[in-house]
Order: sequence, then structure tokens, then C-alpha cells
Amino acid sequence: MNIILLGPPGAGKGTQAQFLVGSLGMVQLSTGDMLREAKDSGTEMGKLVAEVMSRGDLVTDDIVIGLIKEKLDGEKGAGFIFDGFPRTLAQADALGALLNDCNIELDSVIEIQVDDKALIKRITGRSTCGGCGQVYHDETKPWPMDGKCGTCGSNDVKRRADDNEESLKQRLMEYYKKTSPLLGYYFAKGNLVSIDGLLSMNEVRDSLKKVLNKE
Ligand code: AP5
Repeated sequence: MNIILLGPPGAGKGTQAQFLVGSLGMVQLSTGDMLREAKDSGTEMGKLVAEVMSRGDLVTDDIVIGLIKEKLDGEKGAGFIFDGFPRTLAQADALGALLNDCNIELDSVIEIQVDDKALIKRITGRSTCGGCGQVYHDETKPWPMDGKCGTCGSNDVKRRADDNEESLKQRLMEYYKKTSPLLGYYFAKGNLVSIDGLLSMNEVRDSLKKVLNKE
């Protein structure tokens, strides 16, 4: 099973991808995570990427397509979850060609729908475990009382540099200008399914399982 999770920043793509990795053994390919790794590497490319990401703009298509291309040759597990990729029509075309070359079929493109006002709360309350990447939220999924990550026991609480209202506005603008046309693109291809992302994390997870026939 190979799927794309589509949705605005903070919709819950990463949260649900972690669930699918844990329960079904799928492999998460998050271009956001890959770019953050590149950023932390301190290379010239990493510095450039850091600047673009903190503004809330999109990184160039050739960089992200190159990152995905490298990963498609790796471990497939029970299938790929494309999280945050594609984000432009050019990326969608490139992904189609790459999948074709690798004989990988795309099963579903799942849009997680969340209204814009809820996104601000989600983004400004988010933290991530520096040890394992587990995603938390100050209100809806707070860190355990002992301050240690429930998954790996680390106490390294990370907040993203672009998780503030100003960057979020730009990220949303990029989403509506460049990424939302993909909804029509995949609808026309017959792959698109939309689910309500305003429900609780567990309810969204159940909707996803239904779409994937894994109830
Ligand atoms: P990326 O890391 O992909 O960020 P994003 O798309 O903005 O998405 P987020 O990770 O912010 O949100 P999410 O949907 O994963 O939500 P989460 O599950 O964490 O990209 C960052 C940047 O990298 C981009 O701006 C761009 O610069 C660059 N980039 C990446 N890919 C690129 C590409 N393909 N092309 C070009 N540039 C690219 O949830 C958010 C919070 O809400 C969490 O705290 C969570 O606990 C909480 N939450 C989740 N679900 C629920 C729920 N159902 N109810 C209540 N709370 C919930």
C-alpha cells in the first residue's frame, strides 16, 4: 500500500504517519524531516534550506525530488507514506514518473481537512521529541508528567523554528497557491479521498484505517 498524505501545515500528516508506521510497518517519507536533517548538517545546501524553511517558503522542486528519489531505492516495508510530498504540480508529475520507473503503484491520496483557525493552535502548541521524533501538543497530547518521552524516554523537547504565527501565514499561503491544486490533480486521476482532520487523533486514525481497509 502506497499513499500520499495531503493537507495544510498542522493538519496532522506527521501524527498519522507515525501511527501507520507503528501499526502497519509502513515507511514514512517526510520531505520536511529530510530537509531538517539537511539543515542540521551545516552544509551550504543546509544553510540555504534553513533560510527558506524559516520564512515558510517552499524549497526548490529539484532538491526535494532528489531527496525522494534516493529514498525510493531503500526499504519499502508495508508501503510508503509520502508525507509533505508532493507539494507542487511539478513534484506530483516527477513522483508519478519515479513510481512508474520503480513499478510502485500509488493506492490513495488522502486529504486531511482542517480549517485554518484550528491550524494556528496546532502549530503554536506543537513540540517534538529530539530523541525519536514523536509529535506532542501542549493541550491535546502533552508530554508525560515526568518530562520523558513516552516512546523513547528522552527529555529533549524540540520546537520548530517555523512554528510561529508569522511563518505559518506564509506556509499557508504557499499551501493554497502551490499545493492545493494537487487536490484537483489527484481527484482527476481518481486517487483522492478526503477525511475530517478536526476529529480527535484516534478518530482520524480510525478514518484512515477505513480508507486503507485495515479496520
Ligand atoms: P513539513 O515538515 O512537511 O511541515 P508542514 O507540511 O508545514 O506540516 P507540519 O509538519 O507542520 O504539520 P503536520 O500536518 O505533519 O501536523 P502534525 O502531525 O505535526 O515542512 C516544513 C517546511 O519544509 C515547509 O514549509 C517547506 O519549507 C519545506 N518542505 C517540506 N516538504 C517540501 C516539499 N515537498 N517541497 C518544498 N518544500 C518542502 O500535527 C500538528 C500538531 O497538531 C501536533 O502538535 C499534533 O500533536 C497536533 N494534532 C495532530 N492531529 C491532531 C488532532 N486530530 N487533534 C488535535 N491535535 C492534533
